[in-house]
Amino acid sequence: MSRPEALVHSGGDVLAAAVAARLITAITDAQAARGSASVVLTGGRTGIGVLEQVRRSPALGAVDWSAVDFFWGDERFLPGGDGERNETQARQALLDHVDVDPARVHAMAPSDGEFGDDADAAAAGYAELLASLAPEGAAVPSFDVLMLGVGEEGHTASLFPDTPYVRESGKTVVGVHDCPKPPPTRVSLTLPAIGAASQVWLMTTGKAKAEPVAAALNGAKPVDIPAAGAFGRNRTLWLLDADAAAELG
Ligand code: 6PG
Repeated sequence: MSRPEALVHSGGDVLAAAVAARLITAITDAQAARGSASVVLTGGRTGIGVLEQVRRSPALGAVDWSAVDFFWGDERFLPGGDGERNETQARQALLDHVDVDPARVHAMAPSDGEFGDDADAAAAGYAELLASLAPEGAAVPSFDVLMLGVGEEGHTASLFPDTPYVRESGKTVVGVHDCPKPPPTRVSLTLPAIGAASQVWLMTTGKAKAEPVAAALNGAKPVDIPAAGAFGRNRTLWLLDADAAAELG
């Protein structure tokens, strides 16, 4: 588990562009080392903004997009193609604009997919997929980069404070119900699954996030501030704009 590092950028646009550059570099480094890369995407304004900046990057062509495995840290449990799904927004922002290998885009099931409207079954199905792609003895792949947003009350992925989901220590993927952030039903990686990633990047902007960011970086319990429980094996980065970092001191 790596010690969290905070990197502060002047504003949201600079942050998104800087994270986009960091992501392209991380992917190209992984591909140079072993011919492929594994990235976990997130939803929300910041996460999708980063993908839009990647699409606009002059370095876009540096990546072999057909040799990237894409996963999601969480998904809004809605019908396929729904504009609010993280997958839909990621495709619109980047994936539909680069030469991805469809077999390597591992979306979480929609609410009208093979598991029907059963989010718990969809979560179990995604856990099985992750296990099938994991190295020997592991439950999930060793993700190169796992990106996360942070909510105003400290949620990350779809893990909200004081819920059974943030406390989950056995499962790698859970169906989330009665979520305070709409839609109410979601599918989410758990903190143990998040912790399998080599690098975890928590990225957020704005004054409303300053309090949970400071709490998380000052030792808050994950049950109170779920983002406080997100660590990468080799690196944990908090990628912030000045407003979100305002209470760090
Ligand atoms: C989602 C996201 C969620 C998001 C945070 C931050 O499905 O909504 O996965 O965890 O990243 O709520 O969202 P913003 O970046 O828009 O503040």
